[in-house]
Amino acid sequence: MPPGPDREYFQFPGIQDQDTGHMELTPEQQQIGRENFLEAAAYSLTRRDLLKTAAAAGTGLGALYFGYETLRGKPVRTAFIGGGDEANVLITEHPPEYMEIVAIADPRPSNIERSFKGSHPEARIGLVRRLGQAKASEIQVFSDHLELLKNREALGLEAVVIAVPLSQHAPIALLCLEAGLHVLTEKLMAHNITQCKEMIRAADRHGMLLAVGHQRHYSVLYENANDLIQRGLLGDLKFLRAQWHRNNSFPGRDSWRKWDRDGDTRKDKEHLLQLEKSGRLKELGYDSARQLVDWRLYNATGGGLMAELGSHQMDACSIFLGKVHPLAVQGYGGKNFYGVKGVGPEENWVDDRDIDDHIYVTLEFPGRHFAEDRNDISIVTYSSINTNRFEPYGETVFGSRGTLIMKTEMEALLYKEATPTSSGGVEQRLWVIDSARDGGGPVLDSYNTTAPSAGAMMAQSGMGDKVSRGYREEMEHFCYCIRTGRNDLRCSGRVAMADAVMALTANLAMKHRKRIVFRDEWFDPASDLVPETDEQVTTT
Ligand SMILES: NC(=O)c1ccc[n+]([C@@H]2O[C@H](COP(=O)([O-])OP(=O)(O)OC[C@H]3O[C@@H](n4cnc5c(N)ncnc54)[C@H](O)[C@@H]3O)[C@@H](O)[C@H]2O)c1
Repeated sequence: MPPGPDREYFQFPGIQDQDTGHMELTPEQQQIGRENFLEAAAYSLTRRDLLKTAAAAGTGLGALYFGYETLRGKPVRTAFIGGGDEANVLITEHPPEYMEIVAIADPRPSNIERSFKGSHPEARIGLVRRLGQAKASEIQVFSDHLELLKNREALGLEAVVIAVPLSQHAPIALLCLEAGLHVLTEKLMAHNITQCKEMIRAADRHGMLLAVGHQRHYSVLYENANDLIQRGLLGDLKFLRAQWHRNNSFPGRDSWRKWDRDGDTRKDKEHLLQLEKSGRLKELGYDSARQLVDWRLYNATGGGLMAELGSHQMDACSIFLGKVHPLAVQGYGGKNFYGVKGVGPEENWVDDRDIDDHIYVTLEFPGRHFAEDRNDISIVTYSSINTNRFEPYGETVFGSRGTLIMKTEMEALLYKEATPTSSGGVEQRLWVIDSARDGGGPVLDSYNTTAPSAGAMMAQSGMGDKVSRGYREEMEHFCYCIRTGRNDLRCSGRVAMADAVMALTANLAMKHRKRIVFRDEWFDPASDLVPETDEQVTTT
């Protein structure tokens, strides 16, 4: 399992990192799939005239792919609000040529400490290793966003990155936008859709940029995959399957319950209980110190598996389906593991979490010809479970001409379907040729040598040895837009609100055990209609 934002969820004593591959594919078949994808990516890059430039650029491909340039002028003076797990990933990936971190705010001393010192040799290296001791020591520290905002003028602050628990995204973003600061907030955009709409309206009113951290919008890997899909390489897309499966079923190994077991939390406990007693935590939006730390477990502060994990993957699937809004959603979610008696860390343990530990969701999307033919529907299924991690997380696109597996945001595997005139399967080496029919769209064809083509090798070197998940590119483009006055963010508030509508309506479908039909107005920031108060949803 490669290092990444959710790596620690898998790292418990006694459980080895494992990569069981993908379903029943052998390592050789996976390698063939990877090489097939590179051949296809070479086709896409050539068609977009990106191949030579990509190979020449080597790294820093975001600008080339996503249409921005090296920043002219000073880096954007930015503060981090929240210094936890995700902020530390972003600190590691942040581009100093575009973004100057001038302050960091967090009420947890251990997280401030690790933001400077780091906590992982690659994924979270800390400000000192990223910037050097001298530069890092200029960064000012504040106890929370309220203290930070009091000092915004003295700091010459222009922008903030918000990486705090979900319930606080909107309240903090609104204060920052009103204070004249550009905002890049982590996903899920907000705790409910009313808040998403308030955020978009506030950004428009104050002329500020509002970006949201669904990083797949800035992943070169996903961009190449999507280009191939939109060119029709996989044929007709009727079924996409996404999953994020983890195994937290071992005693005391509940990865989202940190208050009781996490070393850093133990160091912070006294300080946080003091903040609870003084009433400061209430001012920051938390009922208790425990809720601040274990925020993912409770409805008041988090949004469950769908908000934390599923929203990324629904985002990817909706991009692959042509950035369309879904038609309807249904699903089942339950506390099927932690809710069962006797599972907790001690005898007679009653688990107090609100969120489900197993969820299964089905979304209906319109196909390209849906307007003329109501049978033209594409289905996305999503599951996130806590008792088995055999399959790595990712999305699989089952097209009528081929199958694409997006694995752990780090690699893509491509296979061909057999047709009446040609074979297919997982042993077949492929390349892409222009078909003679239908105006010459791309088709998969078998390739009779094991040596990769020159194009595939260039695609490999063009994409870089270390695949970027998109965090760096997302921050580069955010700062570039601030400096140039452009507003062509790939994951703007409007785009991210659609992801929030999908994730939060899926939660409502599971809660009310019903199939919910999406309304266009839910996706429209100008409308006050939102799923959480819609009669269709709330009446039984
Ligand atoms: N894009 C991704 O891949 C990805 C991955 C993981 C998490 N996230 C998102 O990042 C956000 C943070 O998640 P995390 O895993 O870092 O959680 P975390 O609990 O590790 O860190 C949150 C931090 O925010 C701090 N905080 C809370 N209120 C604050 C305030 N008012 N002012 C300043 N700091 C405050 C907390 O003390 C804590 O240190 C969440 O929205 C989560 O969904 C995104």
